[in-house]
Amino acid sequence: HKGLFMDKLVVTGGCGFIGSNFIRMILEKEPTVEVINFDLLTYAGNLANLKDLEKNPRLKFFKGDIANKLDVDNALKDGVSSIVHFAAESHVDRSILDSGPFIRSNIVGTQVLLDSARTHNIKRFVHVSTDEVYGSLGDTGFFTEETPLAPNSPYSASKASSDLIVRSYVHTFGFPAMTTRCSNNYGPYQFPEKLIPLFISNLQRNEQVPVYGDGLNVRDWIHVNDHCSGIHAVWRKGRVGEVYNLGGKSERTNLELTHALLNNLQKPHSLIRYVKDRPGHDKRYAIDCSKAEKELGWVPTVVFEEGLKQTVEWYLANADWINSIRTGDYLSYYQKQYGHR
Ligand code: NAD
Ligand code: DAU
Repeated sequence: HKGLFMDKLVVTGGCGFIGSNFIRMILEKEPTVEVINFDLLTYAGNLANLKDLEKNPRLKFFKGDIANKLDVDNALKDGVSSIVHFAAESHVDRSILDSGPFIRSNIVGTQVLLDSARTHNIKRFVHVSTDEVYGSLGDTGFFTEETPLAPNSPYSASKASSDLIVRSYVHTFGFPAMTTRCSNNYGPYQFPEKLIPLFISNLQRNEQVPVYGDGLNVRDWIHVNDHCSGIHAVWRKGRVGEVYNLGGKSERTNLELTHALLNNLQKPHSLIRYVKDRPGHDKRYAIDCSKAEKELGWVPTVVFEEGLKQTVEWYLANADWINSIRTGDYLSYYQKQYGHR
């Protein structure tokens, strides 16, 4: 009868970088929560990110597409009370090459998920968004929750669209959603297309690292555990209809970050290769997260230099994880577990 008292939480995109870290944190912090990990297993979804939790009776996996109403209805039909929504196409460079999957998963997917969630009487819905919806800053200033949306890439435009759809469901239907907008995450299990794991993986093999443009673009780095504890706080304590900015208060230029990685790995600075800039490359992101701090009692706790050092150590200790992505082996993990893909 223990199940009767379980709080059922659907996490979309739980096989990705942040979703898998979030599931690990929730199963640890919330002993009466049962998690259903709903994920399509796109190129970015890796079941091995949750390998250590395979036998946990409070974690179920559901392979499905948020843009497919039948899949979503099936996952929500059995007494689900909350949804934390991570599933999205997440890489800016891919959205420049082909925006199609971004429009489908990030916009249509969010709309289908919201409609099904309304029908199934979901009590709390956290929409995980990004600081990129605010566009780009000059040398000074910070994004607050009141900063106008001004997305510059197809990725950020698709996320901003999903934010507006969430907003409209709160206002039109009284749907119990909250939105988070976080800065750049780093930590274990990040797909090695993003700057930090890509550079670590290249440097390990003594390969060059491609710095876009002059390397002076600024990002505000936050450890993934701090982002996850912020989402947790919003889920449990956030006010319906509100947006909460989350950030790490650790602004660094890409070049400063690259030097820190080279030093951590004891590699020569000659491995830096300046390459053509990303089209429409946002100059600077910086987050004012005082609203979340005041209302939720949340603060980012990981000191960047320490978090980066631990992250480098994690990738070095988990070379097999990166190699299985480099070789494509990770794509057959699901097949091995479940017999089909
Ligand atoms: P990720 O690319 O590592 O993971 C995305 C996950 O979503 C994958 O497991 C993928 O299989 C799944 N997915 C994609 N499309 C799907 C669909 N149609 N149906 C079901 N599952 C699908 O992404 P991430 O870096 O972990 O980001 C997670 C969320 O957080 C995204 O919404 C992103 O916009 C947001 N975010 C990311 C960062 C960051 O720095 N990475 C910062 C702020 C916000
Ligand atoms: O701000 C939050 C966002 O952070 C999230 O919404 C996105 O999902 C996430 O991917 C991330 O976006 P960025 O574009 O900032 O992250 P990325 O790791 O791709 O790039 C970080 C910075 O490094 C950016 O200024 C581009 C630059 N860069 C990136 C890569 C992959 C390089 O110079 N070289 C590279 O090879």
